[in-house]
Amino acid sequence: MTDQNLITAVRENILYITINREKALNALNKATLAELAEAITFANTTDEVRGVIITGSGEKAFVAGADIKEFSDYTGAQGEELARKGHELVFNAIENAKKPFIAAINGFALGGGLELAMACHIRVAAESAKLGLPEVSLGLIPGYGGTQRLTQLVGKGKAIEMIITANPITAHEAEKIGLVNYVVPQSDVIAKATEILNFVKKRAPLAVSAALKAVVASLNNEGYQVETTLFGECFETEDFKEGVAAFVNKRPSVFLGK
Ligand code: HXC
Repeated sequence: MTDQNLITAVRENILYITINREKALNALNKATLAELAEAITFANTTDEVRGVIITGSGEKAFVAGADIKEFSDYTGAQGEELARKGHELVFNAIENAKKPFIAAINGFALGGGLELAMACHIRVAAESAKLGLPEVSLGLIPGYGGTQRLTQLVGKGKAIEMIITANPITAHEAEKIGLVNYVVPQSDVIAKATEILNFVKKRAPLAVSAALKAVVASLNNEGYQVETTLFGECFETEDFKEGVAAFVNKRPSVFLGK
């Protein structure tokens, strides 16, 4: 594995992946996504690995989203391509993996960060974590499956509220609505995720894979394609340019609806 932006280690049949861009709050740039794709393939093709835990480095963030600075001048077509590749190489690859993936959410899980956690099969959150899909405050919509997976996990009403207000929720609120499985002190997130996988490790590997496949099969629909197309279209708006400029220049945005 390449490991420029990740720290990976296999211990007792569990692959631990730490996204290691602490200064950028572990934002997902292209290089990190490519390394994640490699790690997912490694997990799928290595018998020794029975499950995967993904976390973020430092105490502040799991992942604060896709790397906004990397796509600030994208066209619609480039935005759509970003989303499509992300689905194929990382987000759908995790959801369709033969081994269980657990997100150990140690801090902010925003935008692509929450989408990464939702692509995982189980989520454990630190008490201090904040979870949200803030894309509409940048003139975008979620593009890594957030409109679909959040709706699947928490239902249409709460998903729409979270997506169109862009407001994050606390870990305890997330547990109440079924977005995370457990909330634990920050120092215990990895231990709790490991404890869950230690149960899975005792079960029949082929049956675990079959169960994952069957549950995921119940969720597939054409909504992902609709999301990808609309995500690309957002890049053609003035509001997108304004939203990103405001983030980069650390000022409030002024949207004109065009
Ligand atoms: C790039 C990011 C980043 C991001 C934070 N940083 N989030 N860089 N992309 N998503 C960088 C900041 O620019 C800053 O770097 C450093 O990390 C620390 O962040 P601050 O903003 O100074 O920290 P703080 O004031 O504590 O605020 C924390 C925060 C805020 C609330 C998490 O950083 C934030 O709102 N981040 C953006 C969250 C977001 O909108 N995510 C969705 C992205 S769109 P410098 O160098 O300036 O010090 C997305 C689309 C997915 O995810 C779909 C794609 C297909």
